[in-house]
Amino acid sequence: MADILSFVSMPANHCRMLRILPRLTFLVSLLSLLLHSSASAPHTLGAGSSLSVEDHARPFLVSPDGTFSCGFLEAGDNAFSFSVWYSDAVNKTAVWTANPDAAVNGRGSRISFRDDGGLVLTGANGTTVWKSKTSGAGLSVSLLNSGNLVISDDPSSTGGGRTLWQSFDWPVDTLVPSQRLTKDTTLVSRYFILYYDNDNVLRLRYDGPDISSIYWPNPEDGVFPNGRTSYNSSRVAVLDDAGVFLSSDNLRVVASDLGVPGVKRRLTIDPDGDVRIYSLDPSTGGWTVTWAAMAQACSVHGQCGRNAICVYRPSLSCLCAPGHEMVDRHDWRQGCKPMFSDTTNCSQAALPPEQRFKFVEVPHTDFFGYDVAYNTSVTFEHCKKLCLEMCSCAAFSYRPFEGLGKCFPKGFLYNGYTSPNFNGNIYLKVPIGFDPSARSVSARSSQGLACDPDGPEIVQGTPDTFRTSRGNDKWSYLFAFAGVLGVLDLIFIATGWWFLSSQQSIPSSLEEAGYRMVRGQFRRFTYRELKDATGNFKEELGRGGSGVVYRGVLDKGKVVAVKKLANVAGGDDEFWAEMTLIGRINHMNLVRIWGFCSQGKHKLLVYEYVENESLDRHLFGTEDRTTLPWRERYRIALGTARGLAYLHHECLEWVIHCDVKPENILLTREFDPKVADFGLAKLCKRDAGAGDGDSMRLSRMRGTAGYMAPEWALNVPINAKVDVYSYGIVLLEIVMGCRVCDQITAGGERLEMSQIAQALRQVVASGDVVPLVDGRLQGQFNPRQALQMVRVSLSCIEDRANRPTMDDVAKALTACDDEDEHPAYK
Ligand SMILES: *[C@@H]1O[C@H](CO)[C@@H](O)[C@H](O)[C@H]1NC(C)=O
Ligand SMILES: *[C@@H]1O[C@H](CO)[C@@H](O)[C@H](O)[C@H]1NC(C)=O
Ligand SMILES: *[C@@H]1O[C@H](CO)[C@@H](O)[C@H](O)[C@H]1NC(C)=O
Ligand SMILES: *[C@@H]1O[C@H](CO)[C@@H](O)[C@H](O)[C@H]1NC(C)=O
Ligand SMILES: *[C@@H]1O[C@H](CO)[C@@H](O)[C@H](O)[C@H]1NC(C)=O
Repeated sequence: MADILSFVSMPANHCRMLRILPRLTFLVSLLSLLLHSSASAPHTLGAGSSLSVEDHARPFLVSPDGTFSCGFLEAGDNAFSFSVWYSDAVNKTAVWTANPDAAVNGRGSRISFRDDGGLVLTGANGTTVWKSKTSGAGLSVSLLNSGNLVISDDPSSTGGGRTLWQSFDWPVDTLVPSQRLTKDTTLVSRYFILYYDNDNVLRLRYDGPDISSIYWPNPEDGVFPNGRTSYNSSRVAVLDDAGVFLSSDNLRVVASDLGVPGVKRRLTIDPDGDVRIYSLDPSTGGWTVTWAAMAQACSVHGQCGRNAICVYRPSLSCLCAPGHEMVDRHDWRQGCKPMFSDTTNCSQAALPPEQRFKFVEVPHTDFFGYDVAYNTSVTFEHCKKLCLEMCSCAAFSYRPFEGLGKCFPKGFLYNGYTSPNFNGNIYLKVPIGFDPSARSVSARSSQGLACDPDGPEIVQGTPDTFRTSRGNDKWSYLFAFAGVLGVLDLIFIATGWWFLSSQQSIPSSLEEAGYRMVRGQFRRFTYRELKDATGNFKEELGRGGSGVVYRGVLDKGKVVAVKKLANVAGGDDEFWAEMTLIGRINHMNLVRIWGFCSQGKHKLLVYEYVENESLDRHLFGTEDRTTLPWRERYRIALGTARGLAYLHHECLEWVIHCDVKPENILLTREFDPKVADFGLAKLCKRDAGAGDGDSMRLSRMRGTAGYMAPEWALNVPINAKVDVYSYGIVLLEIVMGCRVCDQITAGGERLEMSQIAQALRQVVASGDVVPLVDGRLQGQFNPRQALQMVRVSLSCIEDRANRPTMDDVAKALTACDDEDEHPAYK
């Protein structure tokens, strides 16, 4: 019956197709006209050419392959800049600008390539705003396929084609692939600067009106613990076409879409002080962040002024420290001033300090720098006394660690930030009679700090937040074409629109077929497609609590792992929403998810295929495998920590894994770890405003016996520390080469975790790790690294409050990384 119906309905469809055909050819000829017109825009111009700002819809130059355009970009209300941008980006983002700080008027301004060989930007009243300082006869200006705007000699003249000036030598805030950052160039955005320091290290610095402070690489560690070197003086960094940004100081970062061919990228220092790599999403024309330098936006220095604290609630904001008020209600950079008399004045010491001052605690908060002293392993009382007795001490930072703690008395309070992940508090010194809560100033733990909830906030966002809106771009494109093609073409365009709008049903029918492109790489698959890709689910790769994984090959030859999820609760929409969140998670130590399928009861995930199986097979495998060497073990430990730290702290949505175990750590051919199976337990949105912002209640226990934190058994909200616990167990297993839960006493009884912790404490105290380390390594291991791993592991299995964050763990392990290669800092 169904067959008959479809047969009957076929001719009708057929007819509709025929009716569409003439329109189709019409559109094709229109498109070819449009394409032709943009291809014919000049990519090189001789002397005497100019473009006035009134024609800003028309590019001045377009690169031969059309990738880049240059011309006038709107930089605000009636304000324009002369810039180069990626032609395909919907919101034209300048990759180079002649006049970043001096926009020209929207009337009467002009860019001219003069007869004397100079490229000159003139403002409305004819004054020169910018010029290229080139001169000579027969010069030409060209926009190359690389995005480099070049002024050169006539190629046919003697010694021709010489470059006299190029925009690549004058970067503003962005590098494009192949453009080099050198010792002579910097990237600057507002007060933030990316530059090569005197010691050859590529750094980020806040250079404000009041203070200057380096914040990347993390200044609390040295050059080498950050994986850099100061021994290579070539001072050059470049982003390549594959998505690798390589600097001569050993910094190597990769965009998360590494190696995807044809991706258009840029590396930009944004107005929020972070450096990011962006990739152009061809389907939307928007930019996707594929790497960022800063783990947390508040780690950027100078976000808020003196005595102010940077917080997420949930976007980045500044707040005054308790007992302080804003200096200028409209400018956070001016900071906050105390509402009490000076506590750092030594000349009025009529009474002993403890009768004059007290301390106000601000939890999970620190102010970077300006330490007037420093002492590790002291008690809280000792630290407090130290600050009381130092008259220059305005506050002290105390970070508890294994009973004692690190103590940092502070002279000034700059670069303040609050983060639930920061294990330490700041204690502000205030006069003993001062009541901070009495003056609309309070430190309510549940709401962060609030001294002036209505006060202005610095809003964090994409770079576009800081720029003026360019919502009219689409229209200016249209008008540009109209200008080129004339009125006749406008009719063509109208026809084109009519054609497109009459085909509105196409997208929805495609959606029914399951083809919903999400963003760039991530897509929705049909069940049929995945069935075909896996050869009807033939080759099983593994199975776990959440489902069975099969090997599959997509039509482009890409090998993938397809997971059939078992018992997924929730409807299609819910699943869809979770998938779009998971699809955005992107880190080299996390298994990349390419897409999913949700069709009725079929729920499948499509993952990147990781060649070398999971860690458990290498650590505990009974097969005849070569023992996993130490170097790889350490790399796996570090990479896993970084992947989890990314899940907990860095990605846009805050994710707790809930099932960290060797089975969920996959290894690449090079034995780099990739954490799998994240995001399935539950996705929690980070919500700094709520009291339990960093914890959640789950209706049932999750995880695997032997790796589950003890709090699962208690009826308490679960937070990211459950993963830290599980990671601690895994870390120990990497050292020992066997399952922790299989450890037995001489009498054959299973060891309690408390006994294991006790044993680890003895190892840490004695410093002798040899008995603990996997015997199969036959002594081939790095004792310093092993001891550090045991130490970290021990801290991870402590009571929840004393466990470090994954960020701390990653840092602690990074500090011991690669020390063989850098004997210099031993
Ligand atoms: C031209 O305009 C600029 C600002 O756009 C102004 O600073 C300058 O003084 C003006 N020059 C003349 C000659 O009017
Ligand atoms: C310094 O860095 C450059 C660029 O990355 C590299 O080509 C060169 O080999 C390095 N030199 C040394 C001595 O490491
Ligand atoms: C372009 O910018 C507007 C306004 O800032 C924004 O709403 C829109 O999402 C952007 N479009 C893309 C594709 O990034
Ligand atoms: C310190 O206090 C004394 C006595 O109140 C006052 O005379 C002096 O000006 C103060 N010094 C500073 C630097 O505020
Ligand atoms: C650090 O504290 C210890 C113990 O309280 C003390 O002996 C030592 O002098 C302190 N060091 C510094 C630099 O203050």
